[in-house]
Amino acid sequence: MRVLVTGASGQLGGYLVRRLLLKADEVTAWSRTTCSLATGVPLLPVDLTDTATLAAAYRRARPHIVLHAAALARVSDCYHDPERARCVNAEGTAALARLAAENGARLVHVSTDLVFDGDTGAYTENDPAVPLSVYGRTKLAAESAVLAYPYHVVARVSLLFGPSVVGRTSFFDEQVAALRAGRPVTLFVDEWRTAISLAAAANGLADLAFSDYSGLIHLGGPERLSRWEMGLRLATHLGADPNLVVPGCRNQARAPEPRPRDTSLDSSRWRHLFPKLPWTGYDDSLSQLLPS
Ligand SMILES: NC(=O)c1ccc[n+]([C@@H]2O[C@H](COP(=O)([O-])OP(=O)(O)OC[C@H]3O[C@@H](n4cnc5c(N)ncnc54)[C@H](OP(=O)(O)O)[C@@H]3O)[C@@H](O)[C@H]2O)c1
Repeated sequence: MRVLVTGASGQLGGYLVRRLLLKADEVTAWSRTTCSLATGVPLLPVDLTDTATLAAAYRRARPHIVLHAAALARVSDCYHDPERARCVNAEGTAALARLAAENGARLVHVSTDLVFDGDTGAYTENDPAVPLSVYGRTKLAAESAVLAYPYHVVARVSLLFGPSVVGRTSFFDEQVAALRAGRPVTLFVDEWRTAISLAAAANGLADLAFSDYSGLIHLGGPERLSRWEMGLRLATHLGADPNLVVPGCRNQARAPEPRPRDTSLDSSRWRHLFPKLPWTGYDDSLSQLLPS
């Protein structure tokens, strides 16, 4: 099987490439800009907004499966450049989904829990999506474009955590560095997610891609935790002073867009379909990611 990974220079993409090298016969890795990848797979520069380049690169890759992780993935970047967010997240995804469908390939699109408004939490695939941000709206538009094709998949992933494998510092890496250096970090006590490690999400997405499941599915972690609880557990795991994790509230943040309160995902459908895939809690994931 030939697999194409988009967004391979990103936090999730790096883990996806590593995982897919174990499952696929051939892995093609795309980013927007060229750079090398720790796994040794060359990264090919393909800008999703350049339709002609995209089509030509797709023909060269001839994938059976597309794992689409590329996006303008920072909420603030999307807010500041909504047109670019629309072009990359919505139109780029629609173009790729069309190419895959026309060429008989199956596409797994990585979406987000931020398509929900966060009023209730524990969202299932049947709950209505009402995004509060430009990011969420462009990702929801992408979902509609992908779900127009019968064999494609939209996997909504919860907040991701874990060390970067692509040489770019992640938010998680910054928190670890701050706590190890004795610097305080302020984290919200009133914002909840079902965070899942980058490795677990990549494993889940890869298995999904090689299955015959199509349609919408949620991939979250087993625990609903506030950002503050996650920080506290991280500090404990690192042996850092727990007082460094300062409780903050969403209404203190000067965010230009409203922040969803609770976008925890109900992942029952995924767990029912893949019961043998490990589903590790936050503390055990930390022990695996940062062994002492
Ligand atoms: N991080 C999370 O907590 C989280 C949670 C839920 C869902 N997601 C979703 O998971 C996916 C991966 O997120 P991430 O955190 O790994 O993102 P990331 O680290 O910001 O990586 C984004 C990737 O997309 C590529 N990209 C950006 N614009 C592009 C364009 N115009 N054409 C082609 N490629 C482009 C980037 O390439 P360059 O590096 O070359 O610019 C990079 O490889 C995204 O779809 C995101 O919406 C993330």
